[in-house]
Amino acid sequence: MLFDLYLPQRVLFGPGSTYRLGEEARRFGKKVLLVTGRRSLKETGNFERVTTPFVAAKIEVAFFDQVDPEPTLDTVEAVRECARQEKCAVMVAVGGGSVLDAVKAAAGLFYEEGPVKDYFYGREITKHRFPWIAVPTTAGSGSEATTNAVLIDREAKKKQSLRHPFWLPEVAVVDPILTMAQSRELTARAGLDALTHAIEAYTYRFANPLSNAVSCEAVRLIVQNIHTAYRVGRNRDARERVMQGSFLSGMAIQNAGVGAVHALAHTIGVRYNQPHGLVCGVLLPHIMAFNLPLVEEKYAALAVVAGVVPPGTDTTAAATRFVAYVRRLVEKLGLPSRIGALGVKEADIDELVEATLPANSLKTNPRRVTRPELKEILHQAL
Ligand SMILES: [Fe+2]
Repeated sequence: MLFDLYLPQRVLFGPGSTYRLGEEARRFGKKVLLVTGRRSLKETGNFERVTTPFVAAKIEVAFFDQVDPEPTLDTVEAVRECARQEKCAVMVAVGGGSVLDAVKAAAGLFYEEGPVKDYFYGREITKHRFPWIAVPTTAGSGSEATTNAVLIDREAKKKQSLRHPFWLPEVAVVDPILTMAQSRELTARAGLDALTHAIEAYTYRFANPLSNAVSCEAVRLIVQNIHTAYRVGRNRDARERVMQGSFLSGMAIQNAGVGAVHALAHTIGVRYNQPHGLVCGVLLPHIMAFNLPLVEEKYAALAVVAGVVPPGTDTTAAATRFVAYVRRLVEKLGLPSRIGALGVKEADIDELVEATLPANSLKTNPRRVTRPELKEILHQAL
């Protein structure tokens, strides 16, 4: 077996770990660029929690608060330009996957001269990145543990990953307290994105011992705690465990990969302008049912680990129960069960199929997906 491993260099996990941001940033210099979404940080009351440590460490803070959900190439250009102008020593991304991905790409391309779009379409990245710190405020994307940034080219309606092996952050500060004020809706979507990462990584064709271990534990943590985090947002234990699961899922996809859910989620997300976690959550049970015959043993193992069935349950029965359990979980988290609810129409299916077929993550799906099969999956899911 051959495999490459990508491990975060420094992770500060735990309730309240945000207070260490000042001392971490201080190691780089006296000025940070703090990058956030447009409103979320202030709306959730996390603004003070994040800025106070910089004040205490006597660090000057410049702000960029214009990152949209599902970042575009223009967003990355704007963040990169702002970081250059402000002459900061380190960039600090505080937000969901969108903010982390935008900063990851902006830091990654900081010293490159070409437009972001060139690198998005394959121009070689030759320069080392600018330092950045990841502070996730949602338990979902796992972007703090990955080297890729999912970006959108609005003109071409294209959503794909831009990545480089050295794009992991210098430090990831993973503080579950920051997720406690997230709405139910966001908790559900982010949590299902993380669960999709864990399941797709565990069933990935080229999984390795590390990705297997972390994805398995991530499935257990998320399945056992996401509903509580959704129902009782202030439940600290549940929030903490879902955050652990999300972080481990990020490590899992970084060291294995994703599959058909993500291939389709990118196509559908960009065409109907729907949030990534929502699309993943709706698609997950459909793709699991399609993959079931080829990954029975893996689903059965996850069913036991997550406590869905007792050890010793017949493999086929356990695997089937696991798929049904995930379908029910998606419903209990308030998501629709069909892609029609995302805006997909029967007449769009052919176009969606053609747009999805070239995706790398379709090729690494555990069960081979042909054109007619992809069509069939979408018809069934409609
Ligand atoms: Fe995802």
